[in-house]
Amino acid sequence: MNTDNNNATVNANNGKPAYTLIDGKATAAKIKEEIRHEVEQLVEQGKKRPHLAAILVGHDGGSETYVKNKVLSCEACGFKSSLIRYEADVTEEELLAKVREMNEDPDIDGFIVQMPLPKHIDEQKVIETIDYRKDVDGFHPINVGRMAIGLPCFISATPLGIITLLQRYGIETSGKKCVVLGRSNIVGKPMAQLMMQKQYGDATVTVCHSRSKTLKEECRNADIIVAAIGRPDFVTADMVKEGAVVIDVGTTRVADDSCKGGFRLNGDVKFDEVASKCSYITPVPGGVGPMTICSLMKNTLEAYKRK
Ligand code: GUN
Repeated sequence: MNTDNNNATVNANNGKPAYTLIDGKATAAKIKEEIRHEVEQLVEQGKKRPHLAAILVGHDGGSETYVKNKVLSCEACGFKSSLIRYEADVTEEELLAKVREMNEDPDIDGFIVQMPLPKHIDEQKVIETIDYRKDVDGFHPINVGRMAIGLPCFISATPLGIITLLQRYGIETSGKKCVVLGRSNIVGKPMAQLMMQKQYGDATVTVCHSRSKTLKEECRNADIIVAAIGRPDFVTADMVKEGAVVIDVGTTRVADDSCKGGFRLNGDVKFDEVASKCSYITPVPGGVGPMTICSLMKNTLEAYKRK
């Protein structure tokens, strides 16, 4: 058994191959420490701290948690953070005015508007109002387009976190068959783009979604599966090839009285039956989730440096 905290290999059982649990929590903590070190050096040189701001509208439980974790991560990285809150009945014009004000604020290096927004607000309009140079979420069409053709840009935090995990664990992706499950704008589409590009995944990529007829067969042939379909326990053992790398992006809240808050986070992969077939697998929680916030910190530091 490998006892390295960041590379836990689970022993072979009943003749089944061992797998390595990809520890996103430990990897994210290490990267945040690296960022903090760099920031302290900048501060010692008399420079200001990077500043990430967030706008939160309403009181959605998931969004509150995400934003709280973003503020805590800013502290861990030595960043300044600010949180601007609005009630759910804020008008679209009021929100857009705040976005424009933040675009112009020289003290703010990057900012995000936490999604989802109330139905009366056009999310796309909000995204397109953010100055793409401060769009550390990487949601603005300029960043999405630049990413698609391999130009410097801000890459959406979850796909960037997954690429970082694959790199830090030394997982070979070049020429491999990668199946991405899900086609969302913030995970599935950018993930497929990055896995395809020579400078990141350099893989052969197939995207499957809820309407794909050959989804199971595609998965069975995949060397790497990225599950971002938003359905708990969707990927079962019969869909996974021996030795595959499985990355679980799912974070569905499932009612569970035995957990704090009355729910648990459930991944898209049926971990207990899939893990023993894998060479590498991410857990939920503690896999991709912590890497997402860590990527946002990386993007913020990048926005600060580009200014
Ligand atoms: N809601 C869920 N994930 C995200 C994210 O990465 N950024 C923003 N702004 N909102 C989200």
